[in-house]
Amino acid sequence: MELRLRDKVAVVAAASQGLGRAIAEELAAEGARVAICARTVAKLEAAAEEIRRRTGAEVLAQPADVRHATDVERFVNAAAERWGTVHIAVANAGGPPAKEFLATTADDWEQAVALNLMSAVHLARAVLPPMRRQRWGRLIFLPSVAVKQPIEGLLLSNAVRSGVAGLAKSLANECAPDNVLVNVVCPGYTRTERLEELMATMAAQRGASRDDIVCGWTEQIPLGRLGEPRELAALVAFLASERASYITGTAIAVDGGWVRSLF
Ligand SMILES: NC(=O)c1ccc[n+]([C@@H]2O[C@H](COP(=O)([O-])OP(=O)(O)OC[C@H]3O[C@@H](n4cnc5c(N)ncnc54)[C@H](OP(=O)(O)O)[C@@H]3O)[C@@H](O)[C@H]2O)c1
Repeated sequence: MELRLRDKVAVVAAASQGLGRAIAEELAAEGARVAICARTVAKLEAAAEEIRRRTGAEVLAQPADVRHATDVERFVNAAAERWGTVHIAVANAGGPPAKEFLATTADDWEQAVALNLMSAVHLARAVLPPMRRQRWGRLIFLPSVAVKQPIEGLLLSNAVRSGVAGLAKSLANECAPDNVLVNVVCPGYTRTERLEELMATMAAQRGASRDDIVCGWTEQIPLGRLGEPRELAALVAFLASERASYITGTAIAVDGGWVRSLF
């Protein structure tokens, strides 16, 4: 399928590794010019260089902490100044710690809101004005399958990410008259550095081995395995393209069948 992303400008937040990185590479491979951000400069620049080498695409690396509106604005402006506008934006961030409720502090809650809700708000505020002016845009939020079914052990994530789903659905309605499409892609258990960290934390919390933790997860997944980042990136690239021109205000899980509800 020809996705026709050539010459589109994409910004992918939190993309030096894991899901964000895989999405940036997929969009670049489909011909888009891609800006990526993260906090750790050396890793960010290495990721940008590797994506350029593999795809031949133009890639801009801009250090930013997505919890801060000014950083996010600077990130989006850097892409718009280099390439004239922004067509596609992917709102991503790191994940909050795995804790039970009584172990969480007020600061944990503030950090989770800043990282997993306000980061999405900051990106939407920065990209929607140019998208609406040009009457073409794709805004894709990347929370978690937790917006469809809470995940055991990830209480902060379960609580905060639902706000992103509400934001996305509201923005889809508000922006549709300007042909700006807003959707949610919900990752299930996907093999990334974050999942490795969660494995180690949960193994320590439960006195189990990492293999036991992975087995516990895969037993709940009808496809019987963890996902790969490129499997999620393929859906994001499709939603970012002209081929997805009648899809807005929806949330699609990429989870090997893990969510038990009808939708
Ligand atoms: N992998 C899964 O199975 C899974 C499932 C459901 C949901 N998710 C969620 O999807 C998101 C991405 O997951 P992942 O597995 O790709 O995570 P990851 O492997 O930990 O990668 C996170 C990326 O985000 C960047 N980042 C973290 N905090 C940031 C901040 N404040 N500002 C800017 N960049 C930041 C990191 O770079 P720096 O640290 O250098 O900033 C890194 O590039 C997370 O929110 C995660 O909780 C993942």
